[in-house]
Amino acid sequence: MKKIKVGIVGCGTIGSALAQAIHKKFKSSASLVCFCEHHGEKAFRLMKRLGVKIPVVSFQRLIQKSDLVIEAASASISGRIAAESLRRDKEVLILSVGGLLLNRNWIRAASRSRGRLWLPSGAVAGIDGILGAREGGLRRVKLVTRKPPQGLKGAPYFNQKKFPELSGNKAVCVFKGNARQAIRAFPQNINVAALLSLAGLGAEKTQVEIWTSAALRRNQHEITAEGDFGKITTVAENVPSPGNPKTSFLAVLSATALLKKIFSRVRMGT
Ligand SMILES: NC(=O)c1ccc[n+]([C@@H]2O[C@H](COP(=O)([O-])OP(=O)(O)OC[C@H]3O[C@@H](n4cnc5c(N)ncnc54)[C@H](O)[C@@H]3O)[C@@H](O)[C@H]2O)c1
Repeated sequence: MKKIKVGIVGCGTIGSALAQAIHKKFKSSASLVCFCEHHGEKAFRLMKRLGVKIPVVSFQRLIQKSDLVIEAASASISGRIAAESLRRDKEVLILSVGGLLLNRNWIRAASRSRGRLWLPSGAVAGIDGILGAREGGLRRVKLVTRKPPQGLKGAPYFNQKKFPELSGNKAVCVFKGNARQAIRAFPQNINVAALLSLAGLGAEKTQVEIWTSAALRRNQHEITAEGDFGKITTVAENVPSPGNPKTSFLAVLSATALLKKIFSRVRMGT
């Protein structure tokens, strides 16, 4: 069987883990053909770890050379990568889902494409239920995210607003609004809000609250949804990944599981 040629944009925490999975776990189905990385040294470190030599190219060249494009870089570029990959009829897996709310050219490209856009569930549980519920009478979707301060610091939201003073176990609500506002304010920290809104009621109708506390050690995402089906409540308590406190370890595992789904003949879940 012909192997699927994979290109990865972003050789950080998630990109490196997926490169490793493709090189070891999924080597009978796929092979790495190129990387795109702002910081070349990260791509070379990854190649050394894998024991391979792979060209580092622009994202446009990467899309040309790959059957499956994986974006694990930034919300500032993910919309362009999705749109360009779909225009070229490629399969594309986007991690920076928030970018798909900021640049929406991919919607038109998807409607004309023979390629496919894949979005992992990431660090939340319950996307399968929301997708089912959307098929009939989904009325309310809310996400409450609780993160340690280091999982939120550096977000554009705090360019204008002071980061709250934290003391003891007290939890502070730093943001309340809809998913579109949440993504603008926290483009690298709240991809789950983007995915939840794309899977459910859309970015304007999905309510988001973000809380922080010095006592938190885990990233927690609580989803509640109501509709004709009844009510869903899910809570995921995520260990931050060792490489990046903003990225939950479950998000890395979820993307690996989605790769398995792409390469497999048996597909589970909605
Ligand atoms: N969907 C989800 O569930 C989920 C969960 C966590 C993180 N994310 C998102 O996935 C992305 C990757 O996360 P990570 O933890 O691996 O981040 P990371 O910071 O560890 O790695 C990102 C890498 O991409 C590179 N990069 C950034 N912009 C680039 C560009 N324009 N071109 C080429 N390389 C570029 C950086 O140099 C870095 O090496 C982030 O955007 C993050 O917000 C998504």
